[in-house]
Amino acid sequence: MTIKAILIGAGVRGANVYAPYARNHPDQLKFAAVAEPDPIRRSSFAEDYDIPKEHVYEDWREVLRKPRFADAVWICTQDRMHYEVAMLALQQGYHVLLEKPISPSPYECLQLEEAARRSNRLLTICHVLRYTPFWSGIHEVVANGDIGKVVDIQLRENIGYAHMAHSYVRGNWNNSVSASPLILAKSCHDLDLISWLMGDKCTRLTSFGSLFHFTKEQAPEGATERCSDGCPHVKTCCYVDQRYYMGEGRRHAQHFSEDLSDQTIRKQLPNTPYGRCVYHCDNDVVDHQNVNLQFGNGATASFSLSAFTHDSSRMVQISGTRGEIRGNMAKQTFTVYSFADGGSTEVQVEDRGREGTDRMLREFCNQVEFFTGSSLTSVSASLQSHMMAFAAEESRLNAGQCMELGQFIDRYRAVVKKHGLYCTV
Ligand SMILES: NC(=O)c1ccc[n+]([C@@H]2O[C@H](COP(=O)([O-])OP(=O)(O)OC[C@H]3O[C@@H](n4cnc5c(N)ncnc54)[C@H](O)[C@@H]3O)[C@@H](O)[C@H]2O)c1
Repeated sequence: MTIKAILIGAGVRGANVYAPYARNHPDQLKFAAVAEPDPIRRSSFAEDYDIPKEHVYEDWREVLRKPRFADAVWICTQDRMHYEVAMLALQQGYHVLLEKPISPSPYECLQLEEAARRSNRLLTICHVLRYTPFWSGIHEVVANGDIGKVVDIQLRENIGYAHMAHSYVRGNWNNSVSASPLILAKSCHDLDLISWLMGDKCTRLTSFGSLFHFTKEQAPEGATERCSDGCPHVKTCCYVDQRYYMGEGRRHAQHFSEDLSDQTIRKQLPNTPYGRCVYHCDNDVVDHQNVNLQFGNGATASFSLSAFTHDSSRMVQISGTRGEIRGNMAKQTFTVYSFADGGSTEVQVEDRGREGTDRMLREFCNQVEFFTGSSLTSVSASLQSHMMAFAAEESRLNAGQCMELGQFIDRYRAVVKKHGLYCTV
């Protein structure tokens, strides 16, 4: 069966990362409609995926107000627009594939989980890392019991100084009010991996962190508001705009330009948020943060994220009672050490970049076709990591206060129970 899907938000994730699956697997997936306010993105998506004129919409409300005419809705809008769209899609009887985070509000996350349960529809969250050969390979070793019981996990996320400047200082996720706190926006993936690998519920946590560097106070003498304003530091500043977008970060220029040539980037950049000085932005999200976690059986984990790394990668160390795993995602390798025989096995995984995404989308299409009611990254599975992220942020803002996760979740559940499910459309 070919699944018919509606894409809401034909941006970088929706159109560029996920939609090509339909082109590569026309027997499994076809787009029946698109909703996208940007006229260039809208028309190019409609043309690329052969969508009839009557099903090309400017706004998600127009398409979701119609009686259901497809199997699933893919929601790839910005963080603060997930909740209302997902609520209405579920109410209309669609299965839903929703970009992470579920929502930047703990109330809305709980409401969406409840709504998915009541409507008996899939609500799959795009925790794409779980589907990658690297993380699914590590999970398999842990689940097989090869390292005994997990006692401790350390996970480090190296955001990369240039990626930090792009997404979390100048870009869409730089502000906790307009988007989400960094621990949710970037690291709900990491907290999700920790809770998945641990196979147990987090009971308490503490967190520290701050915005250390990307502030006006740290600006070098005479730094201008934009790199192109004749800033005296363009030759020495490591965050100068053109260096990244015309170099290793070229693909990220798709956030402000359809054409990724040097000439167009040079012309467009000064007029976009990405041309701003990193010390003169409206950012408030942290650039470094640690979280210490304890789980139901007494096992512990620690997670740290930092902007100040030369590359973007994740490093993991998992200590078990009979062995250990150490892995480096950038190198796509992990080593399993056995205490029983003192040996070690290095595993090199094959990942050309789309493996995790393709597996997630293939499983989603299969689940829509043979509806089984649950997925590897269902909203219920993802809720844990989201509540861990909200609790970590509250701890950080309260000088590292120890948060009891059960009580924290109950506090929000009580409010949702009192006020019930609502949809503001
Ligand atoms: N799973 C992951 O690993 C991962 C990675 C990056 C981003 N994300 C998440 O993906 C989501 C989208 O990110 P992106 O980089 O594609 O952003 P984007 O801004 O490129 O895309 C969002 C699109 O939504 C459209 N939109 C705005 N209002 C709309 C409306 N009323 N109706 C329909 N569409 C509307 C925008 O015009 C835009 O094209 C975010 O929530 C982000 O946090 C997830």
